Amino acid sequence: MKVAVLGAAGGIGQALALLLKLQLPAGSDLALYDIAPVTPGVAVDVSHIPTAVNVKGFSGEDPTPALEGADVVLISAGVARKPGMDRSDLFNINAGIVRGLIEKVAVTCPKACVGIITNPVNTTVAIAAEVLKKAGVYDKRKLFGVTTLDVLRSETFVAELKGLNVSRTSVPVIGGHSGVTILPLLSQVQYAKWNEDEIEPLTKRIQNAGTEVVNAKAGGGSATLSMAQAAARFARSLVKGLSGETVVECTYVEGDGKYARFFSQPVRLGKEGVEEILPIGPLSNFEQQALENMLPTLRADIELGEKFING
Ligand code: NAD
Ligand code: LMR
Repeated sequence: MKVAVLGAAGGIGQALALLLKLQLPAGSDLALYDIAPVTPGVAVDVSHIPTAVNVKGFSGEDPTPALEGADVVLISAGVARKPGMDRSDLFNINAGIVRGLIEKVAVTCPKACVGIITNPVNTTVAIAAEVLKKAGVYDKRKLFGVTTLDVLRSETFVAELKGLNVSRTSVPVIGGHSGVTILPLLSQVQYAKWNEDEIEPLTKRIQNAGTEVVNAKAGGGSATLSMAQAAARFARSLVKGLSGETVVECTYVEGDGKYARFFSQPVRLGKEGVEEILPIGPLSNFEQQALENMLPTLRADIELGEKFING
């Protein structure tokens, strides 16, 4: 398997490169690309770690050499939030960056599974889909918005609050990746008994966890280390799926459009990417209401991306 990281010199990219060097199966290839000239140096640095993962670094305007033969492409290229900004404020810069990179993916590795990390994910995934469609290579089984960080946060916060073993705590998170579109299904957490007054504040904390990091970093960016761990987990799951193992992750994909064209929910990953989109399961009244409330926002975010490409 070859995994390419685009945006590899950034806060997420460098940490992700480290984790993938440590965690990808032996014999994997890891290609690191960023416009920043330091990127080949990041690759040399990481390559000195003694694991059987081959690393190469590329910089400059053209990601093509990094994309050649890629099975998985992870995109974290773009700008991050500062305090006072919303993820949608990143649209103006990041929409064009994602479009440009996906145009290269469409030509160089059209069959690769692509995981979009760059915000606003609700919109950048729609942009990627429309670019791939225009190029005639869109396969909805192979395009993913990486929403794994919402799952990691939910697992951490729930285990802390309920005194559970965090390594055995699993929380499905559905919807999208911003504000009210992030919906953790706390009612489905095994062994957690909830008081009525716990659900709303915990849901809000998970929805605002990105902002919690942005404010704590005070102008120094947004989540990078936890995001890198989230992306590494997602990449490992994709690689396992592509290798024939069965793995389930919550991720933002195009499904049957019941809620919105793109929607994050549990997905069984396999040899072609998405093998099966699994049901979201029973919701509490609170979750049902929150789901209905988020849909206009999520659909508008998606439409913004579609219009960016199609006018
Ligand atoms: P960063 O500024 O540290 O790194 C971004 C990198 O992208 C830089 O190294 C920059 O040189 C590179 N870059 C810019 N344009 C490029 C291009 N055209 N081709 C290749 N590389 C390019 O930012 P970061 O903290 O790593 O965050 C990156 C993105 O990830 C942001 O949009 C952020 O909002 C998003 N993010 C998403 C999640 C999520 O859960 N999906 C979580 C955290 C951050
Ligand atoms: C996050 O959830 O941490 C990311 O989407 C970055 C951000 O801007 O909040």
